[in-house]
Amino acid sequence: KNIVILISGRGSNMEAIVRAFRREKWAARLCAVISNRADAAGLAFAEKEGILTRVVSHKDYPDRQSYDVALQKAIDEYHPDLVILAGFMRILTDGFVNYYAGRMINIHPSLLPGFKGLHTHRQAIEAGVRVHGATVHFVTPELDGGPIIAQAVVPVLPDDDEDSLADRVLEQEHRLYPRVVGWFVEDKVAYTRDGKARLAEDV
Ligand code: GRF
Repeated sequence: KNIVILISGRGSNMEAIVRAFRREKWAARLCAVISNRADAAGLAFAEKEGILTRVVSHKDYPDRQSYDVALQKAIDEYHPDLVILAGFMRILTDGFVNYYAGRMINIHPSLLPGFKGLHTHRQAIEAGVRVHGATVHFVTPELDGGPIIAQAVVPVLPDDDEDSLADRVLEQEHRLYPRVVGWFVEDKVAYTRDGKARLAEDV
């Protein structure tokens, strides 16, 4: 399986995936880590790990459409079976998303379908929910609305602020995302024809 990871910043989820890949010796190739920003901190880690890194900067393209075409071209050089969005902070065009239907996943820091979009931890605290978490889902044109593959739940504690809650969720993201990618590598996740995520019985 060929895997391409897209990041925009810190890249801590990418790092967790790379570490799991090494530790568990997945039968896969981590072909490239691609960032839309040259200053993404995560690129240094990927380089240190000997993974090919690339920057496809959105600033070099006049509009979303032409950027996505260029990004798709860069990604396709690696013939990916799986494209992993790991903190890739770009709205993607429908054409791009549909092209990778069933082979592009994202992690979102909330229990979807609750709290889509940005500032999810603030949204959770303001809503007064008692549990919060993270969701890995297939990417579809509906923002944060694709079929859910797996979720991790954390409690919201009485004196939580946005940062403490974000830390607790991130810790779970770093467990959840590598686990789901591992399932992919073992063919335990399927995107069904009716646009749902199906898991093997032994995950
Ligand atoms: C994570 O919270 C992820 O859920 C969200 O963006 C953040 C990325 O963090 N999509 P990192 O770049 O993986 O450290």
